[in-house]
Amino acid sequence: MSNVLLTGGAGYIGSHTAVALAAAGHRVVVYDNFSNSEPAAVQRLAQVVGAPVVTIEGDVRDTALLQRTLLEQKIDAVIHFAGLKAVGESVLKPIDYYANNVQGAISLLQAMQGAGCKTLVFSSSATVYGDPHYLPIDEAHPTRATSPYGRCKLHIEEILADVSVADPSWRLAALRYFNPVGAHPSGLIGENPNGIPNNLMPFVAQVAVGKLPQLNVFGNDYDTPDGTGVRDYIHVMDLAEGHLAALKFLMQHPGLHTFNLGTGRGYSVLEMIKAFEAASGKPVPYTVAPRRAGDIASCYASVEFSAQTLNWRATRSLKDMCESSWKFQQNI
Ligand code: NAD
Ligand code: WQD
Repeated sequence: MSNVLLTGGAGYIGSHTAVALAAAGHRVVVYDNFSNSEPAAVQRLAQVVGAPVVTIEGDVRDTALLQRTLLEQKIDAVIHFAGLKAVGESVLKPIDYYANNVQGAISLLQAMQGAGCKTLVFSSSATVYGDPHYLPIDEAHPTRATSPYGRCKLHIEEILADVSVADPSWRLAALRYFNPVGAHPSGLIGENPNGIPNNLMPFVAQVAVGKLPQLNVFGNDYDTPDGTGVRDYIHVMDLAEGHLAALKFLMQHPGLHTFNLGTGRGYSVLEMIKAFEAASGKPVPYTVAPRRAGDIASCYASVEFSAQTLNWRATRSLKDMCESSWKFQQNI
Protein backbone atom coordinates (compact mmCIF):
# COMPACT_ATOMS: atom_id res chain seq x y z
CA MET A 1 0.00 0.00 0.00
CA SER A 2 1.15 3.52 -0.63
CA ASN A 3 -0.10 6.98 0.20
CA VAL A 4 -1.14 8.82 -2.95
CA LEU A 5 -1.90 12.54 -3.17
CA LEU A 6 -4.46 13.49 -5.81
CA THR A 7 -4.31 17.16 -6.75
CA GLY A 8 -7.71 18.00 -8.23
CA GLY A 9 -8.98 14.82 -6.57
CA ALA A 10 -12.46 16.25 -6.03
CA GLY A 11 -12.95 16.64 -9.80
CA TYR A 12 -14.36 14.26 -12.37
CA ILE A 13 -11.36 12.06 -13.22
CA GLY A 14 -9.62 12.49 -9.85
CA SER A 15 -12.59 11.22 -7.85
CA HIS A 16 -12.94 8.11 -10.02
CA THR A 17 -9.22 7.45 -9.77
CA ALA A 18 -9.52 7.78 -6.00
CA VAL A 19 -12.06 4.95 -6.04
CA ALA A 20 -9.78 2.73 -8.13
CA LEU A 21 -6.79 3.45 -5.86
CA ALA A 22 -8.77 2.79 -2.68
CA ALA A 23 -10.11 -0.46 -4.15
CA ALA A 24 -6.50 -1.53 -4.77
CA GLY A 25 -5.61 -0.84 -1.12
CA HIS A 26 -3.93 2.56 -1.42
CA ARG A 27 -4.61 5.46 0.91
CA VAL A 28 -5.70 8.55 -1.01
CA VAL A 29 -5.39 12.16 0.05
CA VAL A 30 -7.34 14.74 -1.95
CA TYR A 31 -5.84 18.21 -2.48
CA ASP A 32 -8.21 20.62 -4.23
CA ASN A 33 -9.17 24.30 -4.22
CA PHE A 34 -12.75 23.47 -5.31
CA SER A 35 -12.59 25.96 -8.17
CA ASN A 36 -14.40 23.44 -10.38
CA SER A 37 -15.83 21.02 -7.83
CA GLU A 38 -17.40 21.07 -4.38
CA PRO A 39 -16.66 19.50 -1.02
CA ALA A 40 -19.90 17.49 -1.38
CA ALA A 41 -18.20 15.55 -4.18
CA VAL A 42 -15.66 14.28 -1.65
CA GLN A 43 -18.49 13.25 0.68
CA ARG A 44 -20.00 11.18 -2.11
CA LEU A 45 -16.56 9.80 -2.93
CA ALA A 46 -16.22 8.72 0.73
CA GLN A 47 -19.59 6.99 0.44
CA VAL A 48 -18.37 5.04 -2.59
CA VAL A 49 -15.07 4.17 -0.93
CA GLY A 50 -16.79 3.31 2.36
CA ALA A 51 -14.37 5.35 4.47
CA PRO A 52 -13.57 9.02 5.07
CA VAL A 53 -11.17 10.58 2.58
CA VAL A 54 -8.52 12.96 3.93
CA THR A 55 -9.06 16.23 2.09
CA ILE A 56 -6.90 19.33 2.09
CA GLU A 57 -8.43 22.50 0.68
CA GLY A 58 -5.63 24.34 -1.09
CA ASP A 59 -4.29 25.68 -4.33
CA VAL A 60 -1.48 23.83 -6.13
CA ARG A 61 0.29 27.17 -6.46
CA ASP A 62 0.64 27.22 -2.65
CA THR A 63 4.00 25.44 -2.66
CA ALA A 64 4.46 25.63 1.12
CA LEU A 65 1.07 24.05 1.89
CA LEU A 66 1.69 21.35 -0.70
CA GLN A 67 5.13 20.52 0.70
CA ARG A 68 3.76 20.40 4.24
CA THR A 69 0.94 18.11 3.06
CA LEU A 70 3.38 15.78 1.28
CA LEU A 71 5.47 15.44 4.44
CA GLU A 72 2.65 15.26 7.00
CA GLN A 73 0.66 12.72 4.97
CA LYS A 74 3.83 10.72 4.17
CA ILE A 75 2.97 10.81 0.46
CA ASP A 76 4.74 8.26 -1.77
CA ALA A 77 3.32 9.37 -5.12
CA VAL A 78 1.29 12.22 -6.59
CA ILE A 79 -1.27 12.19 -9.39
CA HIS A 80 -1.67 15.70 -10.75
CA PHE A 81 -5.20 16.30 -12.05
CA ALA A 82 -5.61 19.90 -10.85
CA GLY A 83 -5.99 22.40 -13.65
CA LEU A 84 -8.40 24.39 -15.76
CA LYS A 85 -9.63 22.39 -18.75
CA ALA A 86 -11.96 24.33 -21.04
CA VAL A 87 -10.34 24.74 -24.46
CA GLY A 88 -12.50 27.70 -25.55
CA GLU A 89 -12.05 29.54 -22.25
CA SER A 90 -8.28 29.09 -22.52
CA VAL A 91 -8.31 31.10 -25.77
CA LEU A 92 -10.07 33.97 -23.97
CA LYS A 93 -8.09 33.74 -20.71
CA PRO A 94 -4.61 32.48 -21.59
CA ILE A 95 -2.95 34.15 -18.59
CA ASP A 96 -5.29 32.36 -16.18
CA TYR A 97 -4.55 29.07 -17.90
CA TYR A 98 -0.77 29.42 -17.89
CA ALA A 99 -0.83 30.67 -14.29
CA ASN A 100 -3.07 27.92 -13.01
CA ASN A 101 -1.80 25.02 -15.08
CA VAL A 102 1.87 25.67 -15.84
CA GLN A 103 2.67 27.61 -12.66
CA GLY A 104 0.65 25.02 -10.71
CA ALA A 105 2.76 22.18 -12.12
CA ILE A 106 6.02 24.00 -11.33
CA SER A 107 4.84 24.67 -7.79
CA LEU A 108 3.98 20.99 -7.37
CA LEU A 109 7.40 19.89 -8.65
CA GLN A 110 9.09 22.31 -6.24
CA ALA A 111 7.06 20.98 -3.33
CA MET A 112 7.80 17.38 -4.33
CA GLN A 113 11.51 18.12 -4.65
CA GLY A 114 11.47 19.79 -1.24
CA ALA A 115 9.67 16.83 0.32
CA GLY A 116 11.82 14.22 -1.43
CA CYS A 117 8.81 12.70 -3.19
CA LYS A 118 9.74 11.92 -6.80
CA THR A 119 6.91 9.86 -8.24
CA LEU A 120 4.37 11.76 -10.33
CA VAL A 121 1.62 10.85 -12.76
CA PHE A 122 0.45 13.79 -14.85
CA SER A 123 -2.93 14.24 -16.58
CA SER A 124 -2.03 15.17 -20.13
CA SER A 125 -4.37 15.09 -23.08
CA ALA A 126 -4.75 13.86 -26.65
CA THR A 127 -5.15 17.53 -27.52
CA VAL A 128 -1.30 17.67 -27.66
CA TYR A 129 -1.45 15.83 -31.01
CA GLY A 130 -3.41 18.61 -32.76
CA ASP A 131 -4.88 17.73 -36.15
CA PRO A 132 -3.85 14.07 -36.68
CA HIS A 133 -1.36 13.26 -39.44
CA TYR A 134 -2.39 9.61 -39.27
CA LEU A 135 -4.75 7.31 -37.37
CA PRO A 136 -4.71 5.66 -34.95
CA ILE A 137 -2.54 8.16 -33.10
CA ASP A 138 0.43 6.55 -31.37
CA GLU A 139 2.69 8.17 -28.79
CA ALA A 140 5.32 8.95 -31.45
CA HIS A 141 2.86 11.12 -33.39
CA PRO A 142 4.19 14.70 -33.64
CA THR A 143 2.77 17.14 -31.11
CA ARG A 144 1.27 20.50 -31.98
CA ALA A 145 -1.23 22.03 -29.64
CA THR A 146 -3.74 24.46 -31.10
CA SER A 147 -4.98 26.26 -27.95
CA PRO A 148 -3.46 27.76 -24.80
CA TYR A 149 -4.98 24.79 -22.92
CA GLY A 150 -3.12 22.34 -25.15
CA ARG A 151 0.07 24.38 -24.98
CA CYS A 152 -0.08 24.21 -21.16
CA LYS A 153 -0.12 20.41 -21.43
CA LEU A 154 2.83 20.45 -23.83
CA HIS A 155 4.83 22.89 -21.72
CA ILE A 156 4.30 20.72 -18.66
CA GLU A 157 5.34 17.58 -20.55
CA GLU A 158 8.52 19.43 -21.62
CA ILE A 159 9.22 20.49 -18.05
CA LEU A 160 8.87 16.88 -16.93
CA ALA A 161 11.32 15.80 -19.64
CA ASP A 162 13.86 18.37 -18.41
CA VAL A 163 13.40 17.27 -14.80
CA SER A 164 13.97 13.67 -15.81
CA VAL A 165 17.21 14.55 -17.65
CA ALA A 166 18.51 16.56 -14.70
CA ASP A 167 17.65 13.88 -12.15
CA PRO A 168 16.94 10.42 -13.62
CA SER A 169 15.72 9.13 -10.27
CA TRP A 170 12.34 10.86 -10.76
CA ARG A 171 9.56 8.47 -11.78
CA LEU A 172 7.27 10.39 -14.15
CA ALA A 173 4.33 9.41 -16.33
CA ALA A 174 2.42 11.66 -18.73
CA LEU A 175 -0.95 10.11 -19.54
CA ARG A 176 -2.58 11.45 -22.68
CA TYR A 177 -6.30 10.95 -22.17
CA PHE A 178 -8.62 10.72 -25.14
CA ASN A 179 -12.32 11.48 -24.37
CA PRO A 180 -13.25 10.37 -20.84
CA VAL A 181 -16.99 9.76 -20.34
CA GLY A 182 -19.31 7.80 -18.08
CA ALA A 183 -19.42 7.51 -14.32
CA HIS A 184 -18.92 5.14 -11.41
CA PRO A 185 -21.63 2.43 -11.47
CA SER A 186 -22.96 3.62 -8.09
CA GLY A 187 -24.23 6.80 -9.78
CA LEU A 188 -22.82 8.78 -6.82
CA ILE A 189 -19.95 10.45 -8.65
CA GLY A 190 -19.66 11.61 -12.24
CA GLU A 191 -19.14 14.61 -14.47
CA ASN A 192 -21.23 17.59 -13.42
CA PRO A 193 -19.97 20.68 -15.26
CA ASN A 194 -20.97 24.20 -14.20
CA GLY A 195 -23.24 25.99 -16.67
CA ILE A 196 -23.86 24.74 -20.20
CA PRO A 197 -21.57 21.78 -20.92
CA ASN A 198 -18.85 22.21 -23.55
CA ASN A 199 -18.38 18.48 -24.08
CA LEU A 200 -20.67 16.16 -25.98
CA MET A 201 -21.60 13.55 -23.38
CA PRO A 202 -22.66 15.79 -20.50
CA PHE A 203 -24.63 17.84 -23.02
CA VAL A 204 -26.39 14.72 -24.36
CA ALA A 205 -27.16 13.57 -20.80
CA GLN A 206 -28.72 16.93 -19.95
CA VAL A 207 -30.87 16.82 -23.10
CA ALA A 208 -32.04 13.27 -22.26
CA VAL A 209 -33.02 14.31 -18.73
CA GLY A 210 -34.90 17.37 -20.04
CA LYS A 211 -32.56 20.06 -18.66
CA LEU A 212 -31.63 21.25 -22.16
CA PRO A 213 -34.02 21.25 -25.13
CA GLN A 214 -31.77 19.84 -27.85
CA LEU A 215 -28.24 19.09 -28.93
CA ASN A 216 -26.40 20.97 -31.64
CA VAL A 217 -24.39 18.54 -33.74
CA PHE A 218 -21.38 20.54 -34.82
CA GLY A 219 -21.08 19.66 -38.51
CA ASN A 220 -22.20 16.65 -40.56
CA ASP A 221 -19.90 17.20 -43.53
CA TYR A 222 -16.67 15.79 -42.10
CA ASP A 223 -14.78 13.07 -43.91
CA THR A 224 -16.16 10.34 -41.61
CA PRO A 225 -18.66 7.51 -42.27
CA ASP A 226 -21.73 9.57 -41.27
CA GLY A 227 -20.19 13.05 -41.61
CA THR A 228 -20.08 13.80 -37.86
CA GLY A 229 -16.93 13.96 -35.71
CA VAL A 230 -15.36 10.71 -34.52
CA ARG A 231 -13.69 10.44 -31.11
CA ASP A 232 -12.19 7.79 -28.85
CA TYR A 233 -14.54 7.81 -25.83
CA ILE A 234 -13.12 5.96 -22.84
CA HIS A 235 -15.03 4.96 -19.70
CA VAL A 236 -13.73 7.01 -16.78
CA MET A 237 -13.32 3.85 -14.65
CA ASP A 238 -11.07 2.31 -17.33
CA LEU A 239 -9.14 5.58 -17.37
CA ALA A 240 -8.93 5.51 -13.56
CA GLU A 241 -7.48 2.01 -13.65
CA GLY A 242 -4.93 3.20 -16.21
CA HIS A 243 -3.51 5.46 -13.48
CA LEU A 244 -3.10 2.49 -11.20
CA ALA A 245 -1.26 0.62 -13.94
CA ALA A 246 1.00 3.64 -14.52
CA LEU A 247 1.87 3.90 -10.83
CA LYS A 248 2.71 0.21 -10.71
CA PHE A 249 4.91 0.56 -13.79
CA LEU A 250 6.75 3.55 -12.31
CA MET A 251 7.72 1.49 -9.25
CA GLN A 252 9.96 -0.59 -11.56
CA HIS A 253 10.90 2.10 -14.09
CA PRO A 254 12.33 5.52 -13.26
CA GLY A 255 12.42 8.20 -15.99
CA LEU A 256 9.65 9.88 -17.97
CA HIS A 257 7.13 7.66 -19.75
CA THR A 258 4.29 8.80 -22.00
CA PHE A 259 1.16 6.76 -22.63
CA ASN A 260 -2.09 7.11 -24.54
CA LEU A 261 -5.17 6.23 -22.52
CA GLY A 262 -7.98 5.48 -24.95
CA THR A 263 -9.83 2.47 -26.33
CA GLY A 264 -8.44 2.47 -29.86
CA ARG A 265 -11.93 2.75 -31.33
CA GLY A 266 -13.79 5.82 -32.52
CA TYR A 267 -17.52 6.61 -32.41
CA SER A 268 -19.32 9.38 -34.27
CA VAL A 269 -21.58 11.97 -32.67
CA LEU A 270 -24.63 10.26 -34.19
CA GLU A 271 -23.51 6.88 -32.83
CA MET A 272 -23.13 8.44 -29.38
CA ILE A 273 -26.64 9.91 -29.55
CA LYS A 274 -28.11 6.56 -30.55
CA ALA A 275 -26.25 4.70 -27.79
CA PHE A 276 -27.40 7.23 -25.20
CA GLU A 277 -31.01 6.99 -26.35
CA ALA A 278 -30.85 3.20 -26.03
CA ALA A 279 -29.29 3.36 -22.54
CA SER A 280 -31.68 5.99 -21.20
CA GLY A 281 -34.85 5.12 -23.06
CA LYS A 282 -35.20 8.87 -23.70
CA PRO A 283 -35.07 10.74 -26.98
CA VAL A 284 -32.13 13.07 -27.64
CA PRO A 285 -33.42 15.62 -30.16
CA TYR A 286 -30.72 17.36 -32.20
CA THR A 287 -30.20 19.73 -35.06
CA VAL A 288 -27.19 19.99 -37.29
CA ALA A 289 -25.27 23.20 -36.64
CA PRO A 290 -22.13 24.61 -38.29
CA ARG A 291 -18.75 23.07 -37.44
CA ARG A 292 -17.22 24.24 -34.15
CA ALA A 293 -14.03 26.26 -34.64
CA GLY A 294 -10.91 24.19 -34.00
CA ASP A 295 -12.66 20.79 -34.24
CA ILE A 296 -11.09 17.94 -36.18
CA ALA A 297 -12.83 15.14 -38.11
CA SER A 298 -11.48 12.05 -36.36
CA CYS A 299 -9.26 11.25 -33.42
CA TYR A 300 -8.59 7.87 -31.85
CA ALA A 301 -5.69 6.28 -30.08
CA SER A 302 -3.27 3.52 -30.78
CA VAL A 303 -3.37 1.68 -27.46
CA GLU A 304 -0.74 -0.95 -28.24
CA PHE A 305 2.10 0.70 -26.33
CA SER A 306 -0.03 1.16 -23.20
CA ALA A 307 -1.37 -2.38 -23.46
CA GLN A 308 2.08 -3.93 -23.80
CA THR A 309 3.92 -1.71 -21.35
CA LEU A 310 1.32 -1.16 -18.66
CA ASN A 311 -0.52 -4.44 -19.09
CA TRP A 312 -3.69 -2.33 -19.14
CA ARG A 313 -6.54 -2.10 -21.62
CA ALA A 314 -9.94 -0.42 -21.54
CA THR A 315 -12.61 -3.10 -21.18
CA ARG A 316 -15.90 -1.27 -20.65
CA SER A 317 -18.33 -0.86 -23.54
CA LEU A 318 -20.09 2.15 -25.00
CA LYS A 319 -23.26 0.78 -23.35
CA ASP A 320 -21.50 0.89 -19.94
CA MET A 321 -20.41 4.46 -20.63
CA CYS A 322 -23.94 5.61 -21.48
CA GLU A 323 -25.73 3.65 -18.75
CA SER A 324 -23.44 4.87 -15.97
CA SER A 325 -23.59 8.44 -17.23
CA TRP A 326 -27.40 8.24 -17.33
CA LYS A 327 -27.56 6.81 -13.81
CA PHE A 328 -25.46 9.68 -12.48
CA GLN A 329 -27.43 12.26 -14.45
CA GLN A 330 -30.67 11.09 -12.83
CA ASN A 331 -29.11 11.45 -9.36
CA ILE A 332 -28.07 15.10 -9.68
P1 NAD B 1 -12.23 18.74 -13.24
O1 NAD B 1 -12.36 20.19 -13.46
O2 NAD B 1 -13.46 17.94 -12.93
O3 NAD B 1 -11.18 18.46 -12.08
C1 NAD B 1 -10.07 19.29 -11.85
C2 NAD B 1 -10.02 19.59 -10.37
O4 NAD B 1 -8.89 20.43 -10.12
C3 NAD B 1 -11.25 20.35 -9.86
O5 NAD B 1 -11.77 19.69 -8.72
C4 NAD B 1 -10.73 21.75 -9.51
O6 NAD B 1 -11.42 22.32 -8.43
C5 NAD B 1 -9.27 21.44 -9.21
N1 NAD B 1 -8.34 22.56 -9.43
C6 NAD B 1 -8.24 23.36 -10.52
N2 NAD B 1 -7.26 24.26 -10.34
C7 NAD B 1 -6.71 24.01 -9.13
C8 NAD B 1 -5.65 24.60 -8.39
N3 NAD B 1 -4.96 25.63 -8.87
N4 NAD B 1 -5.35 24.09 -7.18
C9 NAD B 1 -6.06 23.03 -6.68
N5 NAD B 1 -7.06 22.44 -7.32
C10 NAD B 1 -7.39 22.92 -8.54
O7 NAD B 1 -11.49 18.13 -14.52
P2 NAD B 1 -11.26 16.62 -14.95
O8 NAD B 1 -12.10 16.37 -16.14
O9 NAD B 1 -11.33 15.74 -13.79
O10 NAD B 1 -9.76 16.72 -15.47
C11 NAD B 1 -8.66 16.38 -14.66
C12 NAD B 1 -7.37 16.58 -15.45
O11 NAD B 1 -7.43 15.79 -16.63
C13 NAD B 1 -7.15 18.02 -15.91
O12 NAD B 1 -5.78 18.31 -15.79
C14 NAD B 1 -7.57 18.00 -17.36
O13 NAD B 1 -6.89 18.96 -18.12
C15 NAD B 1 -7.15 16.60 -17.76
N6 NAD B 1 -7.91 16.08 -18.92
C16 NAD B 1 -9.28 16.04 -18.86
C17 NAD B 1 -9.99 15.57 -19.97
C18 NAD B 1 -11.50 15.54 -19.97
O14 NAD B 1 -12.10 15.46 -21.04
N7 NAD B 1 -12.17 15.59 -18.83
C19 NAD B 1 -9.31 15.12 -21.11
C20 NAD B 1 -7.91 15.16 -21.11
C21 NAD B 1 -7.22 15.65 -20.01
C1 WQD C 1 -16.73 15.53 -29.14
C2 WQD C 1 -17.44 15.57 -30.49
C3 WQD C 1 -17.76 17.78 -31.38
C4 WQD C 1 -20.51 19.14 -28.23
C5 WQD C 1 -12.32 18.05 -25.84
C6 WQD C 1 -11.00 18.77 -25.73
C7 WQD C 1 -9.91 17.78 -25.45
C8 WQD C 1 -10.23 16.91 -24.24
C9 WQD C 1 -11.59 16.30 -24.35
C10 WQD C 1 -9.23 17.93 -22.34
C11 WQD C 1 -16.85 16.55 -31.48
C12 WQD C 1 -19.09 17.13 -31.05
C13 WQD C 1 -19.65 18.38 -29.02
C14 WQD C 1 -21.79 19.50 -28.76
C15 WQD C 1 -21.26 18.30 -30.78
N1 WQD C 1 -10.24 17.67 -23.05
N2 WQD C 1 -20.02 17.96 -30.26
N3 WQD C 1 -22.10 19.06 -30.02
O1 WQD C 1 -13.60 18.35 -28.69
O2 WQD C 1 -13.07 15.87 -28.87
O3 WQD C 1 -12.25 17.14 -26.94
O4 WQD C 1 -12.57 17.30 -24.65
O5 WQD C 1 -8.08 17.66 -22.52
O6 WQD C 1 -8.76 18.52 -25.24
O7 WQD C 1 -10.75 19.47 -26.93
O8 WQD C 1 -14.65 16.66 -27.10
O9 WQD C 1 -16.87 16.28 -26.16
O10 WQD C 1 -16.25 18.62 -26.89
O11 WQD C 1 -16.63 16.85 -28.64
O12 WQD C 1 -21.59 17.93 -31.89
O13 WQD C 1 -22.59 20.20 -28.12
O14 WQD C 1 -18.80 16.01 -30.27
O15 WQD C 1 -17.83 18.54 -32.53
O16 WQD C 1 -16.97 15.99 -32.76
P1 WQD C 1 -13.38 17.06 -28.03
P2 WQD C 1 -16.14 17.16 -27.11
